[in-house]
Amino acid sequence: MQLEAGQVAVVTGAGSGIGRALVERFAAAGLRIVLADVDETAAREVAATLDVDTLVRRVDVSKEQEVVDLAAATVEHFGGVQVVCNNAGVAARTDPWTGPIEAWHWVMGVNFWGVVHGIRAFLPHLVLGGGGHIVNTASIAGLFPGFSAPYDASKHSVVAISEALYLELSGAGLPIGVSVLCPGWVNTRILEADRNWPAEAGALPDQSPAYEVTGRYLAAAVAEGLTPAAAADHVVRGVEAGGFWVIPQDDFFQIAIDRWARISDKLDPVAPEHVPGMPPRSQMMEEILALLLGPGEAAEAGPTDDG
Ligand SMILES: NC(=O)c1ccc[n+]([C@@H]2O[C@H](COP(=O)([O-])OP(=O)(O)OC[C@H]3O[C@@H](n4cnc5c(N)ncnc54)[C@H](O)[C@@H]3O)[C@@H](O)[C@H]2O)c1
Repeated sequence: MQLEAGQVAVVTGAGSGIGRALVERFAAAGLRIVLADVDETAAREVAATLDVDTLVRRVDVSKEQEVVDLAAATVEHFGGVQVVCNNAGVAARTDPWTGPIEAWHWVMGVNFWGVVHGIRAFLPHLVLGGGGHIVNTASIAGLFPGFSAPYDASKHSVVAISEALYLELSGAGLPIGVSVLCPGWVNTRILEADRNWPAEAGALPDQSPAYEVTGRYLAAAVAEGLTPAAAADHVVRGVEAGGFWVIPQDDFFQIAIDRWARISDKLDPVAPEHVPGMPPRSQMMEEILALLLGPGEAAEAGPTDDG
């Protein structure tokens, strides 16, 4: 669908990163914007920089009623909605298997339930309004695992949900497009996601011991990543072309293709040695072992050239 001045776009996670860039891109095209974020101050700061009509709402997308209320407020304020970006997302730093279960609930609550809530709340309004477009932010972690189990699980879910929705809507002949955004590294505050760790989930858990090593490299990869504005440009091209897959960085594809080649041969999974933006996996594993066991022990425990 063509973006046109006067249309209404809703963006969750609008206060930072990709969400903020989407808002700015839509505003540049003259759309009116609903900015939803659990961090209301950040969303208000973004709205204050725009020349278009805005509605700002504090919304925790993991809570169904808050998203239902957001949809009602959107229609009440603007009379309808054409573009819905279910973008808010978080990543936990704690160990998925030994850390508190609340970290799973948090990641799935925002990344998975947030998308389900957004689709369910806004789809009836898109249908009644005669059409529109839904953009769900997944990740390259939705196409192969290896980042962290809760994040991988949530993002695989977003890809599956989006694909199912695309097939259902296009099968029914409804004029509602669906795109799934699967970026690699983007230069945002995603690694500081626990700034929004919910108070009701208890104390912020400790980061996993390995994160001391991986966190440094992740920070460098994110800092060197795509700009949020470039990611938003890819989204707009996807919406306007009606394309389902919005995958800004092609250099991650080979990992997904190699994984599927092994799946089709029924071979057990292997971790890729090279992930774009990261050092070789064997180097990181040596550093993690050295950190956890001490350098001498790590040399004995680690992989050797002759296996
Ligand atoms: N940055 C990357 O490298 C990268 C890569 C792939 C996918 N993504 C995805 O992009 C999306 C946007 O993240 P980002 O990278 O811009 O990070 P970011 O931390 O800069 O922005 C995320 C925004 O979501 C908001 N948010 C957090 N919890 C929320 C909740 N419960 N309800 C509503 N809003 C909430 C935050 O306040 C923040 O404004 C996420 O879904 C993330 O998983 C990011």
